[in-house]
Amino acid sequence: MDLTHRPRRLRQDRVRGLVSETSLEPTDLIAPVFVDATTDERVPIESMPGHERVPLEDAVARVEEVRETGVEAVMLFGVPETKDVDGTRAWAEDGVVQEATRRISRETDAYVVTDVCLCEYTDHGHCGTLESGLQETGEGSDDGDGNGDGHLPGNGHSLPDEPSITVDNDATLESLRKIAVSHADAGADMVAPSGMIDGMVGAIREALDDADHEHVPIMSYAAKYESAFYGPFRDAADGAPAFGDRRHYQMDPANRREAVREVSHDVEQGADVLMVKPALPYLDIVADVRREFDHPVAAYNVSGEYAMLHAAAEKGWLDLEAVALESLLSIKRAGADLILTYFAEDVASELA
Ligand code: PBG
Repeated sequence: MDLTHRPRRLRQDRVRGLVSETSLEPTDLIAPVFVDATTDERVPIESMPGHERVPLEDAVARVEEVRETGVEAVMLFGVPETKDVDGTRAWAEDGVVQEATRRISRETDAYVVTDVCLCEYTDHGHCGTLESGLQETGEGSDDGDGNGDGHLPGNGHSLPDEPSITVDNDATLESLRKIAVSHADAGADMVAPSGMIDGMVGAIREALDDADHEHVPIMSYAAKYESAFYGPFRDAADGAPAFGDRRHYQMDPANRREAVREVSHDVEQGADVLMVKPALPYLDIVADVRREFDHPVAAYNVSGEYAMLHAAAEKGWLDLEAVALESLLSIKRAGADLILTYFAEDVASELA
């Protein structure tokens, strides 16, 4: 055969590496770590095999385990000793994340990123202070499809019949300022607001600068979707909403163009790193953000993405090591520079 194009030439073993377009390094990864103030021993997280909530006493040891695999950065999540309606333990100087951060930054070289949100700290589990909404279904209701039936087209969801309660955006900004500053005061290297509250990046940037933390970067959960893939995390961090869902603040999975608008607001407000979350079901969004902006792009390979691969592997249906590696490589190929993933330690060990 007289073929002009024989792409297989470049797939031979000794040349594959030379022409590969994407690489994955342990230093691209951030490992989430859960610190739990309600326990004095490690508690395995059932839906996330291999992950545990660790007591404060073990926070440093846990981070050292991560570092031994070659992963240099951790993302801290806290489970507080008590919760209340406004989530006040989220900005307490002796709060669980503040205390863990202080110890980790004193005793290790880890790069410490903290999740700045309220859902683990409020007794109702929402990502901020509540306000009573006026959104009622029934007569005159508008669920967006214009037929007034209170049902969104196609997805089988219905809106609540009760007047719904939602998060008070601007009141929540005041809490987020205090949380971010308390984390930076404790030694956090980077803060990552995850609440999808309008104006959160600008408010936090201003608060950090006023507190002499102008060198602390912000990684914004810039395009964060209202996703069912967060299920296992909500068990892990005890942050499931007690009622309703997060659709009033997190993005609609149906929307792609809106992500670019969302991210551009965060860019204008001074975000340093732009995150898309979840990762695998949203690779189109990762690719869009990569193309539209010049900033580093992060993707959060979330708890449900981890859990489903583990579940299939447990049944013998997938090769866990292979699918984990392929997933992370694909997220990078789509345009992510860094990845938050529960596979961080396992994949880094494989790469070594
Ligand atoms: C909010 C937050 C969540 C996750 C990270 N930060 C939960 C949520 O929005 O419900 C989810 C991460 C995951 O599923 O792995 N503090």
